[in-house]
Order: sequence, then C-alpha cells, then structure tokens
Amino acid sequence: MLEIQQLQVSYGGTPIVKDVSLCLAPGQIAGLVGESGCGKSTFLRAVMMLLDDTAHLDGGSILFEGQDLTTLSQKQLRSLRGHEIVMVFQNAALASDPMKRVRHQFYETMSCHQSGVSKKDCYAHAESLLETLHFPDPKRVMKSYPFELSGGMNQRVALAVAMANHPKLILADEPTSALDVTVQAQVVKRMRELRDQFGTAMLVVTHNMGVVAQLCDFVGVMYAGRIVEWGTVSEVLGSPRHPYTCALIRAIPDMSGADPVGIPGAPPDFLCPEPGCDFAPRCSRARAECRKEVPSRCGFSNTHWVLCPYAEGM
Ligand SMILES: Nc1ncnc2c1ncn2[C@@H]1O[C@H](COP(=O)(O)OP(=O)(O)OP(=O)(O)O)[C@@H](O)[C@H]1O
Ligand code: SF4
Ligand SMILES: [Mg+2]
Repeated sequence: MLEIQQLQVSYGGTPIVKDVSLCLAPGQIAGLVGESGCGKSTFLRAVMMLLDDTAHLDGGSILFEGQDLTTLSQKQLRSLRGHEIVMVFQNAALASDPMKRVRHQFYETMSCHQSGVSKKDCYAHAESLLETLHFPDPKRVMKSYPFELSGGMNQRVALAVAMANHPKLILADEPTSALDVTVQAQVVKRMRELRDQFGTAMLVVTHNMGVVAQLCDFVGVMYAGRIVEWGTVSEVLGSPRHPYTCALIRAIPDMSGADPVGIPGAPPDFLCPEPGCDFAPRCSRARAECRKEVPSRCGFSNTHWVLCPYAEGM
C-alpha cells in the first residue's frame, strides 16, 4: 500500500531525511523511534506532502497504492488527505480548533470528502466511532469544546476524527506522548482495535519503546535522518543488531531503579556532516572503514536489516 523509496528532504540545503525507504501493507502498523531531532516528524510530514515552505523534497518517491504522491497536484493531495491518508498530531488539544465543538470537527472532516452527507448521519457515525473508542457518553463529548476534555479524551477524539472517513493510512506523530501511562495504554489498545476492525495501516512516531512493543508490527530506528535498523518488533527489540539500537535499548529506564546507560557523545550536527557512518563518533565498535562511506544494508532475515557491516547484537 505504501512504498517509500529513497526519500530525501533538506532544510536550507542541509539534508535532514536521507535515503529513507520503507514499505507498509494494509493493516500493518510500523513505529519509528530515535533521538529528538533525528528527523522523524520531518519524514512523517514529507510522507503526507505537508512540508514547511523552508523544506525541500530533494528526491525519492512515495507510492501510495501505486500513485506517486510526489507527482500529485495540491488539489489531488487535498482530496487524499483527511480521506485516504490522515495525520494525527502530537498534542491533539492544541492541534484542534478551540472554537469548534467536537461534533463540528467531525462534520467538517466528513462533509469535506463526502458531499451531501447530512449532519444527522455524520453525528450518528461519529457517536458510534466514539463508542468504539470507549467513551461512555458520546453525546456529551460531541457537544464539548476541546478545552472541556482531558488530554487523553482529546487524543481519542483526534483518533476518532481521523477514522471518520475510514482512511487507509494513518500517520501519527507521538499520539500518546502527552498522556499518562494508563490513558496511553487505553489509546494504544483502541488503535489496535481500529486497525483490526478497519484494516487501517499506521506509521507511528514515538519515543516510547513500550508503545512500540504493544502497538506495532514493525519498527524502524532512525539516527541522523536515516533508518539504521528495521525489522519486526520482536526482531528489533528482542535481537537488536545496530550499535545505536543496542545503546538506545540500554538507555531505557526500568523499574529496578538501576541507572539507565546513556549514549556517550552528542547527536550529530546536521550542518557539519562527517563522511561515513553518522554514528561513528559515538560507536564503541567504530573502525577506520566506518568513517569512509555510508554503510549499506546488511540483512538478517527477509524483514530485518541494519545499516552497519559490523552489527552483532547486544
Ligand atoms: N522548519 C524547519 N526549518 C529548519 N530546520 C528544521 C525545521 N523543522 C525541523 N528542523 C530541523 O530538522 C531536524 C529534524 O527535526 P524533526 O522535527 O524532524 O525531528 P524529530 O525527530 O521529530 O524530533 P523530536 O523527537 O524532538 O520531535 C532538527 O535538526 C530540526 O532542528
Ligand atoms: S558502521 Fe561502524 S560506526 Fe557505524 S554503527 Fe557500524 S560499527 Fe558503528
Ligand atoms: Mg518530532
């Protein structure tokens, strides 16, 4: 359904997203993890063809059901967005219009893509979606303004609005990071249920490995604008191979109270790229060859690969 090939995005001539390729089939959920500033949000916005004016798409293709989104007009893109492909932003309460009641958000989304839909039909559909997302009183929620709802409720409303036109693909940028763990668990459960019910594919950016483990089928680990490891969740979290993924997993705090092991050094400066592997200055396995060329993919299974010829596992 989604086939991204060698996508490249720059800000002011500085490459930020570098040669990112990935595929997603209907109903599959993939997570994208990586340090702050590594280019996750830029990549997600590029997939939606929603880049800032300062960003430039330097190359690559985004095939959505065989159609290359990079070649479509703004008008064609508008008819796909909100309908076939939907984006859910990090802080749903801030992303939604504070002057619009929830029912208005639904009506706006649905009437835009289903001409002639009546308010009555729209509200009935919205209430059943809110019910699916386990709101005990959908009618009250429909009448509410975003500020009258909690963060977790707004996030679930945003998901319900995103689902209103039964999109084929949802792109979600940290959909749960503003939520406490119990609400986060609820939202993750609802997202999986929505996928099971409607076969929606999802690409989800998150900082949270727990969310990856509970929600996703696949995970991509991003470093300095590249996906450096990709595989099923059990391959990547269970047998991480890339030195950065191994370090990222060791850096997760656990409940034992033991100090998490930080990753030495700082993320690379996009403005002064060094030749070779971007992780070399921080990598305990780095050798002279690593600083010469960007590593190519090394595969461990049909689904699991890394950008490192010296990847051995933790
Ligand atoms: N509009 C912009 N103009 C110039 N540079 C930008 C712009 N937006 C982002 N950047 C830069 O691009 C890089 C990637 O940013 P991006 O927001 O994609 O990262 P991210 O992985 O989503 O980070 P976070 O986890 O903190 O959300 C950063 O170095 C950031 O400073
Ligand atoms: S290519 Fe070299 S520097 Fe890069 S992750 Fe592998 S071992 Fe480390
Ligand atoms: Mg981001």
